[in-house]
Amino acid sequence: MSLKLGDTAPNFTIPTTAGDIDFHQWAGDSWVFFFSHPADFTPVCTTEMGRTAQLAPEFDGRNVKPLGLSTDSVEEHLKWIKDVDETQNTTLEFPIVADKDRTIAQLYGMMHPGESETAAVRSVFIIDPNKKIRLTMTYPMSVGRNFAEILRVIDALQLGDKHRVATPADWTPGGKVIIPPSIPNSEAESLFPNGWDEVKPYLRYTTV
Ligand code: BEZ
Repeated sequence: MSLKLGDTAPNFTIPTTAGDIDFHQWAGDSWVFFFSHPADFTPVCTTEMGRTAQLAPEFDGRNVKPLGLSTDSVEEHLKWIKDVDETQNTTLEFPIVADKDRTIAQLYGMMHPGESETAAVRSVFIIDPNKKIRLTMTYPMSVGRNFAEILRVIDALQLGDKHRVATPADWTPGGKVIIPPSIPNSEAESLFPNGWDEVKPYLRYTTV
């Protein structure tokens, strides 16, 4: 059965490049950006790992812990990290799960046999501090992920949680947000003192 938005992210204990972790304990009160990739010592993955490492201050600033996964060993990961650091001009510090027998990749639906029988595809799980899965994305092996989008969606989720708003198409931080239809005008008055622009009764833009 595939994992759905709102499900509790399944817990696991596994070796990583930072030692063995109990996933829920390691996540603690942070959000988690859990992402899989097909294999160590491959070009697209090298750039993605490098980009994640370069963005460490951005993830930290949002209280997000990155956690990578591939189906190689800790020893292979550690050797590969040296290449990532060298070629992407960074210092990779987040843990990478060594899922040699694909247990976690199977648990999280990261194996897509139509793409590969043996390697994980590029899955993303954004998990909140309550361990709920808030976003999933799946990219094919040949396409590197857009990290601006990963940060944007984390911003949108965190803003939505804080202010009870939704975000329109192509929203970026600072842009107008939407008052969800579940909030009647009578309640919106106290929640959104800046007022709102009512284009339709179901389409109300505001700022927070
Ligand atoms: C890559 O990271 O470049 C890659 C890995 C597996 C299949 C295709 C591309």
